[in-house]
Amino acid sequence: MVKPDGVERRLAGEIIRRFETRGLRLVALKMLHPSRELAEAHYAVHRERPFYGELVDFMISGPVVAMVWEAGDAIKLCRNMIGALKPFEAVAGTIRGDFTTEIQTNLVHGSDSLETAQSEIALWFKPEELLA
Ligand code: TYD
Ligand code: MG
Repeated sequence: MVKPDGVERRLAGEIIRRFETRGLRLVALKMLHPSRELAEAHYAVHRERPFYGELVDFMISGPVVAMVWEAGDAIKLCRNMIGALKPFEAVAGTIRGDFTTEIQTNLVHGSDSLETAQSEIALWFKPEELLA
């Protein structure tokens, strides 16, 4: 997902391009302004963390681009392309490493396991919005 800061900074195309030119298959894509309920559900795993409230506020601050990308080892591949969470660990060549120094406004979300991907896809997309 391109987060609100990515859309705001006109980086949505650059971010999509990186996955596309790497060779992943685009299975679904849509732009939407998430509701608070959707953002809260998306980050429910973090609901006890001190940054949760601010994180949800940030996620509903503007539109996002939700996507489903397919590839072998897609989870690890995408997480590597996105880059580390801690800005000082996000290396050049990754999306976060190339375009941000902030932990919260970090441009992209990527599912962290197959199970998470399945539940996040179901949260953000209707079955008919996914290509076969
Ligand atoms: P997390 O799932 O740990 O990272 P990732 O996005 O790499 O999967 O955290 C979710 C989001 O929460 C993260 O993208 C940014 C935000 N966040 C903060 O704002 N402050 C923090 O201290 C942490 C750990 C995360
Ligand atoms: Mg995460």
